[in-house]
Amino acid sequence: MRLVLALLLSLVLAASPPAAAQQATDVSPSTGEIDASAVTGRHGMVASQEAQASRIGAAVLARGGNAVDAAVATAFALAVTLPRAGNLGGGGFLVLHRAGGEPVTIDFRETAPAAATPNMFLDAAGNADPLKARFSASAIAVPGSVAGLALAHEKYGSGKLSLAALIEPAVRLARDGVPVTGDLFETLTLAERRLGQWPSSAKVFLPGGKAPAEGALLKQPDLADTLGRIAAEGPNGFYRGPVADKIAATVKAAGGILTIADLAGYRAVVRPPVRGTYRDYEILSMPPPSSGGVHLIEMLNILEGYDLTALGAGTPAALHLVVEAMKLAYADRAAFLGDADQVDVPLGKLLSKDYAAELRRGIDPAKARPAATIRPDSPALGGGGANTTHLSVVDRDGNAVALTTSLNFNYGMGLVADGTGVLLNNTMDDFSAKPGAPNAFGLIGSAANAPAPGKRPLSSMTPAIVLKDGKTKLVTGAPGGSRIISTVLQVILGRVDFDLSPAAAVAAPRVHHQWRPDVLLLERAIPPATAQALAAMGHTIEVGATSGSAHTIVVTPEGVVGVADRRARGAGAAAE
Ligand code: DON
Repeated sequence: MRLVLALLLSLVLAASPPAAAQQATDVSPSTGEIDASAVTGRHGMVASQEAQASRIGAAVLARGGNAVDAAVATAFALAVTLPRAGNLGGGGFLVLHRAGGEPVTIDFRETAPAAATPNMFLDAAGNADPLKARFSASAIAVPGSVAGLALAHEKYGSGKLSLAALIEPAVRLARDGVPVTGDLFETLTLAERRLGQWPSSAKVFLPGGKAPAEGALLKQPDLADTLGRIAAEGPNGFYRGPVADKIAATVKAAGGILTIADLAGYRAVVRPPVRGTYRDYEILSMPPPSSGGVHLIEMLNILEGYDLTALGAGTPAALHLVVEAMKLAYADRAAFLGDADQVDVPLGKLLSKDYAAELRRGIDPAKARPAATIRPDSPALGGGGANTTHLSVVDRDGNAVALTTSLNFNYGMGLVADGTGVLLNNTMDDFSAKPGAPNAFGLIGSAANAPAPGKRPLSSMTPAIVLKDGKTKLVTGAPGGSRIISTVLQVILGRVDFDLSPAAAVAAPRVHHQWRPDVLLLERAIPPATAQALAAMGHTIEVGATSGSAHTIVVTPEGVVGVADRRARGAGAAAE
């Protein structure tokens, strides 16, 4: 059935004008199912969007690697087995809790090339040009993943396994091939048109000019060579020399601005996490250039003032409060957030309990607050897909890694750097082309998030770790563009306030409101009576969108539980 739908959709797309088709292919397929599967182990655990990559990570744990080693191996494997989101040509964030040590994060977000300007995504009339920001080669930002994963390994790996050893399984999979089934088959079919615009991409992903047949083997020999160079030379194998030359040449030929100097200058950054508390728990997550951690903690601070447990999981009264907190936080995101290395972000205020209390006073427990009364009116589009990917790792010593990584859209720009196998991102769209102009996820921003040389575009990726008494309790994160932050919030609430089992906390149907547009998105599994009750409180309801797949690990008295969120096909958790 799903296959029939996918094929029908691709037929519709084939008949559409190019711009519409390009937009539509970025609606990520997801299973639409709301289900999660749990694996319980005694020691380490890896949960990711692709089961084979999780097993590779678990094998690293079994060989004595720590959570960072396992996360690095899993992330490299995902670049091969889940090419729509796992990547070398994109970027992401890693949050690390070190048992007995200070937590850290690694920011390997893409950066704007040196030639970026604040007006680069405006047309001649001064209006935001979404096609340029999303589908032109100017959308390609300097990739950060290779630098970030190598830095993680170098600084925080166990020291027992070399980077080459962690990359080796990915090299093998790229060389020997992975079967084109499930998610890979569906997403390649859907992306056929976008990939097909570029001969370098068609060569890799469209044998004979078409998406591979179900069950075919996808071999990526160029990617294997690129991975091999990184294994042999470290990040220099990617950011300098032939791979860098080929990336810059492809971007230049496509009309973009990224250069070899941009690549050579890329640096991943170690930053302290943003930290908050929620009831008896401590929250660690990603600081700017992600908005995720800041607004996750802001929403939790607001919600701490309510007895959600008494209201009950999934009740209209509880969901209403959660939604009202979302609106306030997303409005702040639009107003204040950007790369804090380049602009001032009022982090102290946004993370404070006092500010949350002030915001809470503006919430009516029985009535939806119109978005226009929160901050002045701005236009915005709808929500996003599920084209990023998250993995969670816990090792036997209690170290934990939450890692979210992305090419932005499925298969990023759809453009493979010729001869490298590396798909390039279109993450420049995460900048605000113009204050008030929405990005692909309907998110608006201020001048704080305008493009500028070397600047990191604001992200919603929210890798998060929840601790109690200094020990890992829960590791989570998600894809889903703007819906990432609200997804992570609800997984945490499911455990902390509603005492749901790990699988139920992940599977529970989700709601999402991002202030603009003033629409409450409900997953289909929200019961109609609940939707009606929310509508009666004044919410404008839209049903149907599936929120991102949150592959989560929960440490329980019974063991370490890895939960694969079945909203994404092929997800899997693997115990050490
Ligand atoms: O960093 C961000 O917020 C976006 N580039 C994430 C994109 C995403 O999650 C795509 N999936 N829907």
